[in-house]
Amino acid sequence: MYSGNLEVKRFIEENTEIVRAHLTPEIGLRLFTPACRFWHERPELWPFSDPFWAIYWPGGQALARYILDKPETVRFKRVLDIGSGCGASSIAAGMSGASRVLANDVDPIADIAITMNCELNNMKPFPVLSRNIIGTEPARWDVILLGDMFYEEELADGLHHWLRKCIRIQGTQVLIGDPGRSQFTRHAIQRQLEKMAEYELPDTTKEENYGLSTSTVWEYRP
Ligand SMILES: C[S@@+](CC[C@H](N)C(=O)[O-])C[C@H]1O[C@@H](n2cnc3c(N)ncnc32)[C@H](O)[C@@H]1O
Repeated sequence: MYSGNLEVKRFIEENTEIVRAHLTPEIGLRLFTPACRFWHERPELWPFSDPFWAIYWPGGQALARYILDKPETVRFKRVLDIGSGCGASSIAAGMSGASRVLANDVDPIADIAITMNCELNNMKPFPVLSRNIIGTEPARWDVILLGDMFYEEELADGLHHWLRKCIRIQGTQVLIGDPGRSQFTRHAIQRQLEKMAEYELPDTTKEENYGLSTSTVWEYRP
C-alpha cells in the first residue's frame, strides 16, 4: 500500500503531531497524540507493524535527558542506539557532540521516522540500520544506549548476554533507561547495575503509562 519512502513520510506527517511535552522539550518529535486519527481508529486499519516509533517511551526519555544534561557522556564518542524508536536518544547524542551516531531499529518505518525527526531538529540525519545486530560480533562502540528495551523476556536475555560481550571485548559503556518494567526489575542483569539518574515523568507520560511515575538511567557493569 505504501511502496516508497516518500509515501511513508507523507503518511507519518499526516498521522503524527510534533510534540515537545516530554522530558526533553529541546527535541521536537513526531508522535501519536489524542489529536491523531489513529489514536481513536480501529487498530486493524493501521497499515504497518506496531508504531513503537510514534511513542516516546519513558526509558528513552530518561536516557535522552541524561545525555543532554551530561554531554561528556557521549562527546567525541562513537554511539550506538539499539531499539532507537523515534530516535530521541540518538538525537540527544548528536546534539551533545558524539563523533558518530548509529541508530538501530528493526522496524523499517522507525528508520524513516528517525530521519524525519533528525530533520525536524535541524540535524543532519545520521545512519539508521534496520538489521538485528543483537548477538553479532561486538563492534567498536564507545557507548551503547538502550531506552526501554527490556520489555520482553527473550529480548532481555539476548541483550544481557550480548551487552556483556560488548563490554568485555570492546570496553563499551552501556547505559539503559527503564521506568521499572517487571521484565527488567526481575531480570538477572539487576545484580550488575549502577544507578546514574532518576527522573519524575511528565504528567502526559504518566497518563499514557499507567502506574509508572519515574524513569531511571542505569549503567550495566558486569
Ligand atoms: C519500547 S520501544 C523503545 C524505543 C526508544 N528507545 C524509546 O525509548 O523511546 C522498543 C524499540 O525497539 C525496537 N526493537 C525491537 N527489537 C529490536 C532488535 N532486536 N534490534 C533493534 N531494535 C529492536 C522496536 O522496533 C522498538 O522501536
